[in-house]
Amino acid sequence: MTDVDSSLGVRRVAADLRRDGRAAVDWAADYLERVTDLPVLAQVAPGEIRSRLPAAPPDDPEPFSAVLRDLDEVLLPGVTHWQHPRFFAYFATSASEPGILAELLAATLNSVGFLWRTAPASTELEAVVLDWTAQLLGLPAGWHGHIEDTASTGTMAAMIAARETTGRNVVVCSEHTHSAVEKGARMLGMSLRKVAADEVFRLRVDELGDLGDVAVVVATVGTTASASVDPVPEIADACAASGTWLHVDAAYAGSAMVCPEFRWAFEGVSRADSLVVNPHKWLLTPMDCSLLWTSRPADLRAAFSLVPEFLRTPDAEDALSLSEYGPALGRRFRALKLWAVLRCYGRSGLQEHIRRGVALASRFEEWVSAEPGWEICAPRHFSLVCFRGPGDDERNLRLLEAVNASGEAFLSHAALSGRYVLRLAVGQMSTTEEDIRLTWDVLRRVSQSFES
Ligand SMILES: Cc1ncc(COP(=O)(O)O)c(C=O)c1O
Repeated sequence: MTDVDSSLGVRRVAADLRRDGRAAVDWAADYLERVTDLPVLAQVAPGEIRSRLPAAPPDDPEPFSAVLRDLDEVLLPGVTHWQHPRFFAYFATSASEPGILAELLAATLNSVGFLWRTAPASTELEAVVLDWTAQLLGLPAGWHGHIEDTASTGTMAAMIAARETTGRNVVVCSEHTHSAVEKGARMLGMSLRKVAADEVFRLRVDELGDLGDVAVVVATVGTTASASVDPVPEIADACAASGTWLHVDAAYAGSAMVCPEFRWAFEGVSRADSLVVNPHKWLLTPMDCSLLWTSRPADLRAAFSLVPEFLRTPDAEDALSLSEYGPALGRRFRALKLWAVLRCYGRSGLQEHIRRGVALASRFEEWVSAEPGWEICAPRHFSLVCFRGPGDDERNLRLLEAVNASGEAFLSHAALSGRYVLRLAVGQMSTTEEDIRLTWDVLRRVSQSFES
């Protein structure tokens, strides 16, 4: 018979959560201890994991222990381990302990923050953590900030606000801007103008041209390929002169601004109309958590606010509904994990994390520069090293594939000045000098093996 006694239901959920939760937390802690011994890049072929899974869902309930068992036996071989200390591809990230646990708690509360009244704590905590993070990064006081899932969404939201505010339909960015901007422009039906970069991969201001018909210029602090920094002050001048919205994408490098010694890279950012920074990249927060600030909240709200009858409330105007500032209606309690991270690390802990990453990258850069036949391919500003081994593009591609296939480390690549370069991005909190050394040894060993 159907159990309609809800209090019994709650007791059962709580009892199950205690039992299964202990097992799940144990699983998580064991995983973090043993991940170092697993191959970083999943060693499976496309379709392999799917073929090991049942084609149909179970008819009857299974215990949670069966899920944990299959996580180990079926899924784990198909996991590329972003929590591995030798994950150096793309922009390496870390889900820290407070962030992991806060995800559990956010799922437990299951707040859906589309109106202030549906989630007052989530809404107001979000304002507080955005304000705290703005202070940590040295941003101007008083900006409006909220959390989006990704920088792709936050940047697209900025593009929408820019189009709405200026009545123009052109996006300008550099050839090194993240592809999210091109994708956003395509989805929005905006036309895109790409500007050439200089010899160190920064947008060339002298190539910006007339911005009279331009809705938004996207400048990047920490480009994806090389972490180059566009000249934001000069771009801000050009935008101001033509009434163009300036959006700054600091998805990766923005986190480094917790350290005053990297703040040079944020020069001019206080003049931006909007800014995106991803704590889920380099600030110890689990995916997903992307921060979008704007100095023009009224314009952002005008672009997104649409309140149908069923969402109208008698709440006061200062009962802010964050769904009026972006594309999504339902919003997760993402602020909880960032709050947990900011509290459990504090400014000093976050600074230490960033400085360690930069120091390790600098160590690797020294070894590469000192090795005959190897070269550094871009100035290193943060924790990303762009380099090449001996030989042509083809040989460097083979080198990358062989190192990744070894499972010892995982790196990625980029194209700089038409050449294939390898990228080593430090961002995992568990990475040690020993991991960097081991990776360097593997790279040299594999490269030498091509000669024999
Ligand atoms: C500079 C930059 N902007 C935007 C993005 C896209 O980030 P997301 O995955 O949060 O959309 C990336 C991803 O690496 C990036 O490096």
